[in-house]
Amino acid sequence: MRKIIINGGKPLTGEVAVSGAKNSVVALIPAIILADDLVVLDGVPAISDVDSLIDIMATMGASIKRDGETLEIDPRGVKDMPMPYGKINSLRASYYFYGSLLGRFGQAVVGLPGGCDLGPRPIDLHLKAFEAMGATISYEGEMMRIATAGKPLHGAHIYMDTVSVGATINTMIAATKAKGRTIIENAAREPEIIDVATLLNNMGAHIRGAGTNVITIEGVEKLHGTRHQVIPDRIEAGTYIAMAAAIGKGIRVTNVLYEHLESYISKLEEMGVRMTVEEDAVFVEEQGKLKAVSVKTSPYPGFATDLQQPITPLLLMAQGQGNISDTIYEKRINHVPELARMGANISVLGGRIVYQGPNQLSGAPVKATDLRAGAALVIAGLMAQGTTEITNIEFILRGYSNIIEKLRELGADITLVED
Ligand code: UD1
Repeated sequence: MRKIIINGGKPLTGEVAVSGAKNSVVALIPAIILADDLVVLDGVPAISDVDSLIDIMATMGASIKRDGETLEIDPRGVKDMPMPYGKINSLRASYYFYGSLLGRFGQAVVGLPGGCDLGPRPIDLHLKAFEAMGATISYEGEMMRIATAGKPLHGAHIYMDTVSVGATINTMIAATKAKGRTIIENAAREPEIIDVATLLNNMGAHIRGAGTNVITIEGVEKLHGTRHQVIPDRIEAGTYIAMAAAIGKGIRVTNVLYEHLESYISKLEEMGVRMTVEEDAVFVEEQGKLKAVSVKTSPYPGFATDLQQPITPLLLMAQGQGNISDTIYEKRINHVPELARMGANISVLGGRIVYQGPNQLSGAPVKATDLRAGAALVIAGLMAQGTTEITNIEFILRGYSNIIEKLRELGADITLVED
């Protein structure tokens, strides 16, 4: 079992660079299956979700080369084969293989998706969209078959009942090579959706409106190769900005697209966090007293649910009382008992997280129950007096590229140990 050990309370200074976006790359890699030539991605983060996707793609027959942050994928050898349960259910974003296999072969036989346990995470919207484009769905044990009966997918007018990042991207991927026009209404607007549309368009697709709530896709017959730079990870950026505000003595977070973080930065400003937004960086000063605020998550451009947990340790050091309500995943509360174990005055009341600050955290043995809860515990460990031992760190390594090295560079006393 691997653990992260942090001796907290050390002053952190310097620069930390944000890597490519996890939530983009987990869609970009499966989308490449649609190309008829080599596709190169730059800025690919060193996270275990990428390792899993590469394994899956290689098993399917793609030839892949990885050199640092550059990933070359030649999808021409990908075969129409069932994807075994196992690797594919280790990450939720494996659902993007449904759209890309369906788009390329007219069928996808894949294991049901896994990922972080944030309460029920249905995929009905993805399936409804595939059905609207002419596919039928059937189940065989823990496998699902999504198939068109020998006919190509056709364009469709799809209204998403809920704003969903995954369903929007998956529909866009499947529709890229469908016959005719697909319109997605009430589409999600996250920057990762624009990134996937940019890759597909550079491969020859005709997608308009990504980043707005209506996306139109004119189906094309063939997609070619291209080279694409993955956008910076706004969630990783937000995590390091919160950490810098909580424990930094002057930290510059680089490779940041401020436009992707406006609601988050506004919330930090409301707390009184002192920082300077630079061209592609945010410089966070050493902070004085901060004010407690309340946070409510909502789809982009609102406050991201993925940043609700990473900002919690910072909220805990502010003066006063506040609450967090997550309107997207109301069960995203697993970090609360762990932070309470570290001495925080925080609890869950009537579906909301309620806290009272300021708090001085103390090191304790804690468990990362999901990716962003893990990020919250790393920040809490850096802030705490004494030693924090975090178990279940596989979740953290799924989404934070070189986190140990990056934090050590800033002066943190943090070690990954193999038990
Ligand atoms: C993506 C992100 C995840 C983030 C989430 C919300 C990736 C790989 N993951 O997850 O980090 O926390 O967006 O910003 O990009 N829903 C349905 N039916 C569906 C699909 C979703 O009811 O078929 C609901 C979900 O339960 C949730 C809401 O829609 O309440 C939003 O989920 P969605 O945007 O789809 O999340 P993911 O794409 O899975």
